[in-house]
Amino acid sequence: MSQTNQKGGGAPCHVAIIMDGNGRWAQRRFLPRAEGHRRGVRSVRRVIEAAAQSGVRYLSLFAFSSENWKRPADEVNALMGLFATALKKEAQAMRENGVKLRVAGDLSAFSKDIQESVKESEAMTAHGETMTLTICANYGGRWDIVEAFRNILRKDPSIAQEPERVTEALVDANLAFDWAPPVDLMIRTGGEQRISNFILWQAAYAELYASPRLWPDFDENDLKEALDWYAGRERRFGMTGEQIKALGHGE
Ligand code: IPE
Ligand code: IPE
Ligand code: MG
Repeated sequence: MSQTNQKGGGAPCHVAIIMDGNGRWAQRRFLPRAEGHRRGVRSVRRVIEAAAQSGVRYLSLFAFSSENWKRPADEVNALMGLFATALKKEAQAMRENGVKLRVAGDLSAFSKDIQESVKESEAMTAHGETMTLTICANYGGRWDIVEAFRNILRKDPSIAQEPERVTEALVDANLAFDWAPPVDLMIRTGGEQRISNFILWQAAYAELYASPRLWPDFDENDLKEALDWYAGRERRFGMTGEQIKALGHGE
């Protein structure tokens, strides 16, 4: 999908969120980190609803990175448990609210139970038209790009002999979530200002917004603040501000 300028007032079409700060939220309360993750699920619910109401068409949430396996086993297990439960519990509500659920990431590392729940939830919500929600689980931006190249070669090994046939559009079409347009707004909660191997390719021109709020505290007002900030940005895609203004007048 082509990138278009989103000028003042418009809701971003695709919002991606690095949901960070669950551990610190719990530690500040002398609670186990898993409790922070549990509370984080509430924020997920709130933000899905608020994003859909604000006109966001694609919401992508970073739930578990390909590097998060390095965490202590009990924390990884707690995260897997929450993922499995949330999938089963939330799919019906998503269906009722017109949310189409997709999961992006290397699911082969997950239990059979989770893989089944993903398939069921995706099938159950397949007709949703209000917003497409992508949960990124065992996802990494670098993994995504490497997989895209592997897919290209798997489908057509002869391309290795004619590398000029590899185009940006071809890579785009082979990425994990080829159903979503480029990311317009990338939000990271928890105060850090890094991408941590989240969406790389499709975030090439994303506006970056860092919220100091820890994810379990992030609510609809914080999302609104981020969307308002986005509405005031001038996206230039390599052009000059004058060119962008001239384009605006022409519409
Ligand atoms: C984000 O919160 C959730 C996951 C990475 C799964 P963290 O667990 O990273 O929270 P902090 O950054 O340690 O506070
Ligand atoms: C990014 O957060 C991953 C998710 C939010 C799922 P991390 O907490 O893993 O990132 P780093 O390690 O601080 O960069
Ligand atoms: Mg973190």
